[in-house]
Amino acid sequence: MNTVQSVFGGQGAEGAQFLSLMTLFTVVTTIIYLLVLAYLALALWRRRRTEHTVESGDHAAEPPPQRTALIGWVALVNTGLIVLTVASFLTDRAMARTASSPALEIEIIGHQWWWDVKYTGADPSQSLETANELHLPVGVPAHITLKSADVIHSFWVPNLAGKQDLIPGRQTDISIKPTRTGLFRSQCAEFCGVQHTHMALDVTVENRADFLRWYRAGLQPAKAPTAPLAKAGYAYVMTRQCAMCHNITGTEAGSHFGPDLTHLASRRSIAAGTLPMNRGNLYGWVADPQANKPGSKMPTLGLEPNELHAVVAYLETLK
Ligand code: CUA
Repeated sequence: MNTVQSVFGGQGAEGAQFLSLMTLFTVVTTIIYLLVLAYLALALWRRRRTEHTVESGDHAAEPPPQRTALIGWVALVNTGLIVLTVASFLTDRAMARTASSPALEIEIIGHQWWWDVKYTGADPSQSLETANELHLPVGVPAHITLKSADVIHSFWVPNLAGKQDLIPGRQTDISIKPTRTGLFRSQCAEFCGVQHTHMALDVTVENRADFLRWYRAGLQPAKAPTAPLAKAGYAYVMTRQCAMCHNITGTEAGSHFGPDLTHLASRRSIAAGTLPMNRGNLYGWVADPQANKPGSKMPTLGLEPNELHAVVAYLETLK
């Protein structure tokens, strides 16, 4: 199954290992389950036959070889358990091997209800910050450090790997090595408040060249708007509440309370996967965030229609 959000995807090394382990567990436990049912059916059938022969005055049937059956059963169950234990151990080792040589360092901070994503490298000038989107080059092991700014969240890209919690005051981590390109969806997997459902992350796995193109574009500061309407929007964003929460690199807006907006218009969605990115949704979101995502930290500002047109026109320049 090759959908954007599926545990059966196996588009990452870890996801594929989980999938094989799950298949093995299912096969072994199904065999044991069917044997239990078969043995139960046999026992019932034998009992009925015995009762029947007693009633009709015939000699009782031979007692079944209980001892041998019991020994065989114990041996079978133990073999199954040993196979599952060894397989779990080998999967764990294989995952540790992938995690031992990361080529990409990423830090993700969970907030109610969005994801702050930072690519941290040895060279601070090459650090990149974005929000609610994660780009990964295919075949490259990435090490992701996970932190929380408020409550417990859980990072989960089912197509690529398992879950890992983000715990306040603690640092956890997960390693992901994507094996196939594609667009995936990550969903917060730990209930974290009223908008837990609307806490998604768009994941793009692409080839190295595309990833580097995206990365270099992301390092660029926002371009100054040229159209009059967008300029008016820029003025609004810089002088009103927007700049108090958001960062737009290359401008005076430098707050990190809310998601980074430097390249907002290049993303696939807004408000952490709540709405697809397009002009209509930008209008809807900026006009009334509380109607789209009740409880969100972004207040409804009550913009006048001309201010709304201007702000959306400016946001659309943030490619
Ligand atoms: Cu964050 Cu659920």
